[in-house]
Amino acid sequence: MAKTRTLIVAGEAFPLAKTGGLGDAITGMARALTEAHMPLNVLLPAYRGVRGKLNRVRTVAALPGLPGGDAALLEGRCPQSGLDYLLLENDALYDRAGLYADENGKEHPDNGVRYAALAHAAVRVAAGLPGLVRPTLVHAHDWHAGLTPLLLRAAGLDDVKSVMTIHNLAFQGLFPMECADAFGIPEWARGDDGAQSWGRLNFLKAGIRYADRVTTVSRTYAREIMTPAFGCGLDDLLRERAGDLLPIPNGIDDVLWNPARDPYLRSHRYGPRDLSNKIHCKAALQREFGLRPDPGATLIGMGNRLTEQKMADVAIQSLPDALDRHPGLQVVILGQGEQRFEQALKDIAARYPGRCAVHIGYDEGIAHRLHAGSDILLHASRFEPFGLTPLYAMRYGSLPIGSRVGGMADTIEDPGPRAPLSMMASANGLLFEGDSPAAMTAAIDRALNLRGHGILWRLMQRNAMTADFGWRSAVSLYASLYRSLVEPDYRDAEPAPAEHPASVAAMGRRTRSGGAMPAAI
Ligand code: ADP
Ligand code: GLC
Repeated sequence: MAKTRTLIVAGEAFPLAKTGGLGDAITGMARALTEAHMPLNVLLPAYRGVRGKLNRVRTVAALPGLPGGDAALLEGRCPQSGLDYLLLENDALYDRAGLYADENGKEHPDNGVRYAALAHAAVRVAAGLPGLVRPTLVHAHDWHAGLTPLLLRAAGLDDVKSVMTIHNLAFQGLFPMECADAFGIPEWARGDDGAQSWGRLNFLKAGIRYADRVTTVSRTYAREIMTPAFGCGLDDLLRERAGDLLPIPNGIDDVLWNPARDPYLRSHRYGPRDLSNKIHCKAALQREFGLRPDPGATLIGMGNRLTEQKMADVAIQSLPDALDRHPGLQVVILGQGEQRFEQALKDIAARYPGRCAVHIGYDEGIAHRLHAGSDILLHASRFEPFGLTPLYAMRYGSLPIGSRVGGMADTIEDPGPRAPLSMMASANGLLFEGDSPAAMTAAIDRALNLRGHGILWRLMQRNAMTADFGWRSAVSLYASLYRSLVEPDYRDAEPAPAEHPASVAAMGRRTRSGGAMPAAI
């Protein structure tokens, strides 16, 4: 019997609850681990409507006295993903519109209590509940689950190991120190060397400080977050923990995101060998967004949170310029986020009727059709821990224009504007440096020029569509990490060191001694 049994703790998981890539990553990872015979459960809050999406739901246990009041633990299976879930039910905390924020984007004022309760529930499961198999390892994701490693220690559960994965260091979960009692945070963990930063409680810092291992979702981001520029104030702590910080890049769900089988494309499916239906997807997208029906147009899609992280402000300056200079260019935008960006994009669409259109909102179907119908995905970020969206676009033969940060620097292959044009035959997208509108516009110009070289563009599309971005390598790294924590004799027993994930510190050492791993800072 497997010695490792994992409890994954997270704020979202597709298709039960999703606001962004975290939801995709949790489900993708959990499914891939399950398929690799690593048994697990995923613990989520029972947000509004989630219980009804599970089959065979039963109440496993009452969980009295959690932050925010008495709660119940439910168990059920998700028919789409086949995953077994544990739901933390407390309607006063979770039965409301929106996961972290309300319909107007305003954060729920009691998020501290809501996610402190989630971490305490994880610890109760780890301590053992009648009728549930006890996990040997708890894998906490992002700040929502950040208190879990600390509370495991506080409960003295040293036999249950913990892993903290950072999907986005910019969101840390900061709450007033006065809440420490209500959140059940022990005195010894309240200092600057514990869960406090800037005079506030910091959930993510607690996770990074107290987890047995910390991982993040790309190699470049792992190095970046140890620098002041990307460390969001936690770079000191991350450098301190460099020996326990491992990059494990995400994968994508290549069944859900597959233009050959995608139900959102109706009959217009296609694959890397025959893209003839892609033109119909473009026509359908032009119709759906009210653009001029023009098969010869180059269609740029943008589908992401409208925030500064995603350079929405830069796109707002760059896109009109590009639309003015390239009469054959069309742009569709799907997103929601900061209101000032939503409004500015709507204003641009109004200035370019038939050529630029915006859908403000969150719509899974449109996201799929956007990748299928566009030629290019504009996905620029000031920081990008991994970046699933550009990989989805690649699968659909829509070539990404990304910025050279985080996961995009690792997954988008671009020899650069100075390399001979023929070298683009090995590319799968374009990258630009920095966050200036001029750099973004230059990258758009470059993409439009490349699109004029039909054979080259087709080669790039094939590279993008056939690249293997599945979960396989991530799973072997996670499995190896779990087992190295839970089964102390594992490392000696397993002969293949290449499969052991290397910490950022070790990446640096190997690089200095001439190995093939990327350089640490
Ligand atoms: P992040 O998690 O930082 O937002 P990722 O690119 O990793 O970035 O993941 C974003 C996920 O959210 C993708 O699945 C993308 O399709 C989805 N998404 C973002 N905005 C929207 C939207 N407005 N409608 C539908 N899906 C969206
Ligand atoms: C975060 C990051 C994104 C990443 C996703 C899944 O939301 O912003 O880059 O792809 O998590 O790990």
